[in-house]
Amino acid sequence: MKHTSSKNDTLSAYWMPFTPNKAFKEEPRLYSSARGLYYTTTEGRKILDAFSGLWCSNLGHCHPKISEAIQNQASKLDYSTAFNFGHEGAFELANVIADQFPGDLNHVFFTNSGSEAVDTALKMALAYHRINGEGTRTRLIGRVNGYHGVGFGGISVGGMVNNRKFFGSLLSGVDHLPFPYNSEKTAFTRGEPDTDPMEYLTELENIIALHDASTIAAVIVEPVIGSAGMFLPPKGYLKKLREITKKHGILLIFDEVITAFGRLGAANAASYFGVTPDICTLAKGINNAAVPMGAVIADEKIYDTFLDGTKAGVEFFHGYTYSAHPLAVAAGLAAQKAYQEEAIYDHVKANAKYFEDGLHSLKGSPHITDIRNIGFAGGLTIAQRDGIAGARAYDLFLKAYELGIAVRSNGDTIAIAPILTSQPKDLDPIISALSKAVNEIN
Ligand SMILES: Cc1ncc(COP(=O)(O)O)c(C=O)c1O
Repeated sequence: MKHTSSKNDTLSAYWMPFTPNKAFKEEPRLYSSARGLYYTTTEGRKILDAFSGLWCSNLGHCHPKISEAIQNQASKLDYSTAFNFGHEGAFELANVIADQFPGDLNHVFFTNSGSEAVDTALKMALAYHRINGEGTRTRLIGRVNGYHGVGFGGISVGGMVNNRKFFGSLLSGVDHLPFPYNSEKTAFTRGEPDTDPMEYLTELENIIALHDASTIAAVIVEPVIGSAGMFLPPKGYLKKLREITKKHGILLIFDEVITAFGRLGAANAASYFGVTPDICTLAKGINNAAVPMGAVIADEKIYDTFLDGTKAGVEFFHGYTYSAHPLAVAAGLAAQKAYQEEAIYDHVKANAKYFEDGLHSLKGSPHITDIRNIGFAGGLTIAQRDGIAGARAYDLFLKAYELGIAVRSNGDTIAIAPILTSQPKDLDPIISALSKAVNEIN
């Protein structure tokens, strides 16, 4: 199909991200409002949001206290630069976040997105080693199928081929660990698969042996793989990864952009898995996505190294015009309060089994070759039709939308991420719509 656009075509000016623009503009899906668990389309249809926006609207849409906080902030202090000036809320929010992370992960650097958080974390790791007298540690290690946003750092350590192949040679000195998944051994596992983590981590030891630890700055992983289709690490994988990185003085970065703030039924994946990395990247649920915001949380030794290792003046030559933007911070403070007041982490923990049972009841439905789950996150693998990657999963996504449910397709997977306030009665329609949809597509 040849693309045509004209000035009269009101949809063509907006070049949409991560979207098949031609197909979308022929059959647009437009939201006009949202409240709680539902979007409303411009045709007035209600769509149950089974993806928390994009893993981010954890507390539901237009949460009254978050909306109110943003409105109040907008007329009080609309903007303040974060370079050489501050506002009280930023310090308060940093403390509220730091209190939820284990070990001495105590220092929060604000960004405006997950991608910026990732590039910030990678730069922080490189600069840390240099200030610490180990400037040879410049190599970075990511993982096949990893998603760390779309900055050049993020796509370099990321491992999703379409996000990389169009964009040149990327950062040099990057290696990738294998994707820790084997469908033949672990399909339909509830929670973390019980396979030997060293099947996937021996490669880290090989990479270290090849380059020598003295050249490696950091390993970055998603503790739970999100964008590639919701995959869990094997039991003990993250602990083992921590052991190996620590032994070799390599920083471990958890990309917690989707896992922090309740998705797993805990404050973050570090707490959930009992593994403390050196740095975590955050975004999305940090402030319920009502205003763009990301962050990096670093541990005491990293912060101290920057502050003690720099004589005077700026310690980290990095930051954004909108770092700690007052509106984002106001949303963050209100969201963090709501997580506590509404006991969201416990709610997810208590209802994760119900979600798991619902999701796994789809086993045996046509086309579904794997089902994975943790907390309020689920992943399905959909068999390809005629060997065409992604086509059937995309049809399932469209069919679910037709049935009033928003999920996400990526490649041959469907990811489900219910809003964290969902009750069992709100989870049921997600499962029944998926069941109907998968039976209706060919
Ligand atoms: C693990 C992870 N890291 C980074 C990002 C990028 O975040 P953003 O889209 O806010 O830049 C995402 C987004 O989905 C993510 O899932």
